[in-house]
Order: sequence, then C-alpha cells, then structure tokens
Amino acid sequence: MSDSDLLENAAYTAPPVFQAEKKLIFGTGWHVASPAACFAEPGAYAAIGLGGWALLLLRGEDGTVRAFTNVCAHQKMPVLDNGRGRCDLIRCRYHGWTYNAKGALISAPGTVAPDGELDDYGLEPLPAKVAHGLVFASFDEGVAGEPALDAGFPDLSGLALAGDETRSLVPNWKAVVDVIHGGVAAPPVSAAGRFAWQWPVTGLWQEPDGAVLLMVVPRTFRKTELHVFSLAADPGAASAVMSRAGEWTERIMTAAIERQQVVEAGGAPEAALAAAVAPVHRRIRDMLAAQAAA
Ligand code: FES
Repeated sequence: MSDSDLLENAAYTAPPVFQAEKKLIFGTGWHVASPAACFAEPGAYAAIGLGGWALLLLRGEDGTVRAFTNVCAHQKMPVLDNGRGRCDLIRCRYHGWTYNAKGALISAPGTVAPDGELDDYGLEPLPAKVAHGLVFASFDEGVAGEPALDAGFPDLSGLALAGDETRSLVPNWKAVVDVIHGGVAAPPVSAAGRFAWQWPVTGLWQEPDGAVLLMVVPRTFRKTELHVFSLAADPGAASAVMSRAGEWTERIMTAAIERQQVVEAGGAPEAALAAAVAPVHRRIRDMLAAQAAA
C-alpha cells in the first residue's frame, strides 16, 4: 500500500467529484438496491436516491420486482417520497397521475390529463433482477450480463426480514465506507461469522443466525443515508440480529463523523485504516482517472 492508493481528501468534499461518481460508479453496472426479503409481498415498494439517481422498486401482483426512475411523467417530480412501504397503485402526490405496478399510466385528473392516450405515458423502466437473495438494479439501460456477487459475498436467499432502519448522516459516503472497512466501526465478527463487501456500497455482517446488510446510500456529496436490514435465519433469531444491527449502526455513525472531520482537517487515516480501505480507494481512483483520461 502506498499513499497513491488512497483518495485525496478533496474527494470527500468537492461537489464535482460526486457528479463524476454518479456517472462512473453508480451510473454503470448492477447495484444492490435491497434485500429481496423486503419484497416478499405484492405491492412492496422502495424509493431510493442512490448516488444521485432516483430509483423506485415495486413488486407487482405477478411477483415481479420492477425498477423505474422515480420521476413522474407529468412534470418530472418524484412520484413517491424516498422510503419503503406498500401500495397497489402509485399515485403522484403533486397532481394525481396514477400508475400501476408495471409503470403504466392508468388515470389522470381531467384538469391535468395528458395530451393523447394514457398508453403514451408511463414511468421510465430500469433494468432490475432478483438474484442471490438481493434485488439488483441498474441506471444503465444497456447494462450487460447478469448481476453477480463479489468474492466472499454470500447468497442471502432464505433469510427473512426482521427489521430495517434508515439513518441520515452528513459525512461523504466514502467516509462511511472507510469506517465500515476498518477501525472501531468494523463489525466484531465471531469465529463462525464473516464480513463481506459488495461493490460499491453494500456491507454484510453474517453470523450463523442471520445477517446485517448495510447499504451506504449517497444522496449528495455531503449527505449520506445508512440503510440497515436485519435478516434472520429463523424468527427466534430476529431480536439478536436486530440488536447487532443497532449496535453496529451506532458505531458507524460516530466513526464516520470523526472520519469526515479528519478529512476536512487535512489529516490522513491511521495506518491500519489506510491498509483496510486501500483496495476500495484504488478502485474508485481508477474509475475516476479513466474519466479524466477520456
Ligand atoms: S408531477 Fe406527478 S402528477 Fe404532476
């Protein structure tokens, strides 16, 4: 590991870097958007602002989880507020355009009715796949191949959702990723457990009775959300997994704020943290450098 492996501190504070990341990191390839366990029932939805992109996931009566851009066809406003829940139809809160679970526009109030046929309008579909116990989505219409797990990341099929929580914090998303990989916020994995990482923002702390899945969701260059899912192997394990999730979340929140403070003060990570984050930093650097060279 050398200093050149690490990102410069400006990568945590400069808005143009976030725009480059939106395009190069989050605008390409497949991304974990949710555990599949969140979509066990028809009508389950999730609206997520991921890396500057507006994503809406919705499971239809036919069992298919579809992805759309969370943008209304009427006046390009968000169709749903970010969050999770259940709905059979998607009714835009601004003027009432209403879509079905396949994204088709099915009704609109007369005063704001579209020109022409309803069929000419609808939500913009995005690629989505359910695989390995996860929902993957892509913001690249032409994304190639099937979503795959990174080395060491386990298949989560068979785990049930015990609880979920979303927390907001102000550090840049990479400060959160850093502390998850090393230092006091790394999960205290038992001998029978494991920590795994799915590029670019999904962490997993798995133990024999279940797993905590954690998505670091970049909202802006200074706003990040932590989406935390407790996934239990059986109902009796739910409270233990949720307890681990809560403990890990608090440690991450505290450590990420401190990491951002170090960055903004012009400091460098401690040696152990630098070694832990070097592979992630190198990958981000390579992707950003490719754009600079293009
Ligand atoms: S912006 Fe959605 S109905 Fe007008």
